[in-house]
Parts: sequence; structure tokens; C-alpha cells
Amino acid sequence: MEIEPLHEDFGVRVRGFDLTAPLDSEEIALLHRLVDDYSVVLFPAQRMTDEAQMLLTSSLGEPEENHVIYGRTGELVYIGTVGNVIDGQTQRDESDPHTQSMKGNNLWHSDSSFRAVPSYISILHAYEVPKRGGATEFVSQRAAYKRLSGTKQTAIQDLHVLHDYVFSRTKTAPVHDNHAASLPPIEQKLVRSNPNNGLQNYYVGAHARSIVGWGGIESRLLIDELNALATRQEYRWTQFWTPGDTLFWDNRCILHRGTGYDADRYRRNMRQTRVRGLGPTLSE
Ligand SMILES: [Fe+2]
Repeated sequence: MEIEPLHEDFGVRVRGFDLTAPLDSEEIALLHRLVDDYSVVLFPAQRMTDEAQMLLTSSLGEPEENHVIYGRTGELVYIGTVGNVIDGQTQRDESDPHTQSMKGNNLWHSDSSFRAVPSYISILHAYEVPKRGGATEFVSQRAAYKRLSGTKQTAIQDLHVLHDYVFSRTKTAPVHDNHAASLPPIEQKLVRSNPNNGLQNYYVGAHARSIVGWGGIESRLLIDELNALATRQEYRWTQFWTPGDTLFWDNRCILHRGTGYDADRYRRNMRQTRVRGLGPTLSE
């Protein structure tokens, strides 16, 4: 197995590890450790299938259901398409409402930060990628927290933040009434600690709406400041996808966003699963 860094703040590329083979407990522990320590882990050239991806996801914890389908219909689905592909012949174009609602993924966010138990790991596998566009960008809120002054770290240490899916997503597309009703704003810790290595990070992104107990203007000043500090150009690492890439990211401390692509011209077929966090951030 070969490991090489992706960015000075975070991330490794791992070659020589087959994610689709049955994994023993040492290999599973290694995957958790890579996520704890490096936050983004890229495994190129994986011969992935939906079945193998679900097995891999279950081996790392409890799979998290797709909240869009669950919110709208109550149906439990644990793997979903990120992209516009429906099947081998058909895809959604730019005018499709689903394409529009997927554009919310182009805002910096942490997956499911608006859920009572937010996501631990997202696992995304690339099957078909656009010739142009369709990259995914990442930044570390752990590195960003480290860059704050000691005074600032202390000032934000005990704050709580409301995360609200409807607040963030209605900026790009309407949210179905059933779905909106299923996702009331959720209170999260602003500063989180990794339970295994003790490293701290702040936890904001597009779903972060307001600071609990603060007014709107003060809330937005702080949240906007923290988001801007984390996402500066020089702190980003961009994944330009190649079919066969499987990427893990740690939603506890990473922000990511899509960069967009022309859905009228290109097909994009990525499959995503997520591992649920261990509990609400307020009890961490
Ligand atoms: Fe996402």
C-alpha cells in the first residue's frame, strides 16, 4: 500500500488497497484511522459496484438514509446518484428540476450537518464524469480552526449553531413541503473534537444559519467570517474525477462543494453512500 499527501492541510491518496475485497477488522480500523488523521482519502482504480459500496459503508458504521427521498416519501434508500444520469441512455438536462436542486451542492457544506445525528463519512465513487467541469473542492475546518488566534478559539469554544437545510437550499431551488417539514433546524456544537486524536475544528458551512442566542446580524458576521477563512483559494484541494476513483471525506471537519458542469452536454454518474455519525454533536 502506498500513501501520498494531497494538500499540506489534509488528504491522502492510497494506492494498492482494494475497497471491494472483504475487509478484516485491522483493515477497517486502518480506514477509520486514515479518515481521523487525513480527513480526505482517495482510492483510485476501484472496481466498485453498488453492492460492494453498500458492504464497505456498512463495515464502517451505520449507513445513513437519503434524506431527500425519506423526507418526501418515507422510503429508506441508502445509496444515491450524484449527477444527471438516469440509465445507460438517458440523463437529466439543465432544465430538469432535479438538476437545479442538485446545484445546492455547489455551496460549501458538510453533508447532513442539518440532521440531529450528522454524517461521519461520505463515500463517493465515480462511474462517468464530464469532459469539462464536475470537479469537487475540499477544505479543512480543522486547519482553519488552527489558524484562529487563541483568543478567537476561546471566544467561539462553547457556541452552538442552528443548521437549517431549508435556509441553505432555497437559495438555489425550492424544497418540497414534505421534505422541508421533515428537517427542522438542528442545534450543533460550533467547535468539535475528534474523539480519537483530540484534534479540534469548527463546524459551519452553508447550512449554518445562526448562532444560538445571538441576533441575526452578529450571527451572520461570525458564520460568514468562519466560512470565508476556511474556504480561501490557497486552502482548497480539488478532486478532478477519473472513473474508478472512490473518495472518502470526513464530514465532521471537512467542507466540500461541487463546481458545476453542463448537464445539457455531459453525463455525470457518481454513486454516494454515507456513514452516520455516532450521535448528536451536543453530546460529544
Ligand atoms: Fe455534499
